[in-house]
Amino acid sequence: MSRAFLSVENLSVNFPTSDGIVRATDDLSYTLERGQTLGIVGESGSGKSVSSSAILGLHRNTNAHVSGAIWFGGTNLLALSDDEMRERRGKEVAMIFQDPLSALHPYYRVGDQISEAHLAHNRVSKRAARARTIEMLARVGIPQPDRRVDDYPHQFSGGMRQRVMIAMALINDPVLLIADEPTTALDVTVQAQILDLLQDLQKEFDTALIMITHDLGVIAEIADDVLVMYAGRAVEYGSARALLSQPAMPYTWGLIQSIPDVSRSVDLPLRPIPGNPPSLLNQPAGCPFYARCDYSKFVADNRCATELPELAPASYGHLKRCHLKEELSVYDTQLAVVETGAN
Ligand SMILES: Nc1ncnc2c1ncn2[C@@H]1O[C@H](COP(=O)(O)OP(=O)(O)OP(=O)(O)O)[C@@H](O)[C@H]1O
Ligand SMILES: [Mg+2]
Repeated sequence: MSRAFLSVENLSVNFPTSDGIVRATDDLSYTLERGQTLGIVGESGSGKSVSSSAILGLHRNTNAHVSGAIWFGGTNLLALSDDEMRERRGKEVAMIFQDPLSALHPYYRVGDQISEAHLAHNRVSKRAARARTIEMLARVGIPQPDRRVDDYPHQFSGGMRQRVMIAMALINDPVLLIADEPTTALDVTVQAQILDLLQDLQKEFDTALIMITHDLGVIAEIADDVLVMYAGRAVEYGSARALLSQPAMPYTWGLIQSIPDVSRSVDLPLRPIPGNPPSLLNQPAGCPFYARCDYSKFVADNRCATELPELAPASYGHLKRCHLKEELSVYDTQLAVVETGAN
């Protein structure tokens, strides 16, 4: 069987705690090819970071239990030794972390931190690593890179720090890049610049990109495929075009309605999804979204409360985890005004 470039198969990540087992990622599967972008979207706590950091082996040597397989270029990353994983991390697979301040050491010059990432994986001189660092800083749009290379993280603005993180993640030309909310907390103009930059770099190196975000607007702009996560599970998965134009389950409808969309001609109210996701300690027996769902009344025999739906094909060619019948799943087109930039 030939596998995709990246194939995450039945990945589960559990954290044993004094209160019980936190099921942060449950039986998650997806694939990604080189040059393609997968958007992972979902509310806070849905398992986006936990599942993605498993690809870099970041749960190793913690109390987390990780199971399943992560096939990457023909190798199951979960079966590698710590040394073998360290060889790949930061070289073939890199991550732009959610919080640049926690990922950059405050007491070291940014240039030294980036050079170190290069030196760790390449037999080059310090001088060559520094030259490469300056080149990367220029690439990510940092003005006067030959001077800024000697600055400390706090001397950069939020947007510039984010660029420093990107430079560090890309210094070894990774073939798989995980960007965890790289533009959250940045203003819209900087956000757009950083997304453009990531897309340019992706084209240049044919990088497979996983873009984690709360923001379906970002997904619409750059993703080929979308994975919607809820309470540690995939609840909808497929091509961005199919999923955004024909979202097939109420949780995704809710996410779409909560996007601020300045291009809407009608002034539709923003509707955050009422309620909260279930505790990951005691997942309910039925659908994890049941308690917040307005549509379970259309499903016979109270199945939403008692039976976890399978992730199964919706009629539009993508997968959904929902008991609703297709005819009821037809999304209220009046509200589905999402401009998809995906093609
Ligand atoms: N070490 C840990 N021990 C116990 N629970 C954890 C641990 N790390 C993460 N979790 C829990 O796993 C769940 C998923 O966390 P994760 O960070 O993946 O969410 P997320 O989707 O990235 O959210 P956000 O959008 O806020 O970044 C959360 O409920 C979190 O509290
Ligand atoms: Mg996160």
